[in-house]
Amino acid sequence: MSEKETVSLSVAYRLLHPMHVALISCVGKDGKPNIITLAWVMPTSIRPPMVAISVGPARHSHALIEETGEFTVNIPTFDILKETFYCGSISGRNRNKFEEACLTPLPSRKVKPPAIKECIAHLECKLHSKLPTGDHTIFVGEVVEAYADKGIFDGEVYNIEKAKMIYHVGGAYFATLHPKVVTP
Ligand SMILES: Cc1cc2nc3c(=O)[nH]c(=O)nc-3n(C[C@H](O)[C@H](O)[C@H](O)COP(=O)(O)O)c2cc1C
Repeated sequence: MSEKETVSLSVAYRLLHPMHVALISCVGKDGKPNIITLAWVMPTSIRPPMVAISVGPARHSHALIEETGEFTVNIPTFDILKETFYCGSISGRNRNKFEEACLTPLPSRKVKPPAIKECIAHLECKLHSKLPTGDHTIFVGEVVEAYADKGIFDGEVYNIEKAKMIYHVGGAYFATLHPKVVTP
């Protein structure tokens, strides 16, 4: 049995990483779309389908989600790691991240925030509720439409050999899955 060592409470959340990274698109009343990179994303309900995202109040995207009550969760892969990091490193308050990161907006099916073409999967969400939690806000979205690249999802699970998803270890460190699926 290895000895335990104390971890500072200020970084205790990193013991939950690596976290699956998502690119969230959102749009203001003026129609300008934005992208925010998030590691704190999780499903919260199957029926109805719901997901939660945790967003700092200072983020421009926080204001946009509150303004229009919609967001789209897009799943990036290692092919766009640089772009994913970029969207999480600058604010879209006065910048167009779609243009600057060379990401392509695709019209969404049921919400205004566009899907990101270079991502492999998309969950369109309408804001259900929000919960302040310390220095972040949890936005819970009801998933109203979902789709994925052909061949990447077999109807129930991802094809892990094809889907090189991004996991955030912390800071500028990222990982992806070894393409070996094991069952207990
Ligand atoms: C890998 C990664 C994960 C991040 N995860 C979160 C997160 O879960 N919640 C959050 O509020 N910000 C997170 N950020 C920071 C935001 O993406 C960043 O502050 C962004 O520039 C905000 O953009 P905006 O002002 O255009 O909304 C993350 C950044 C990176 C690079």
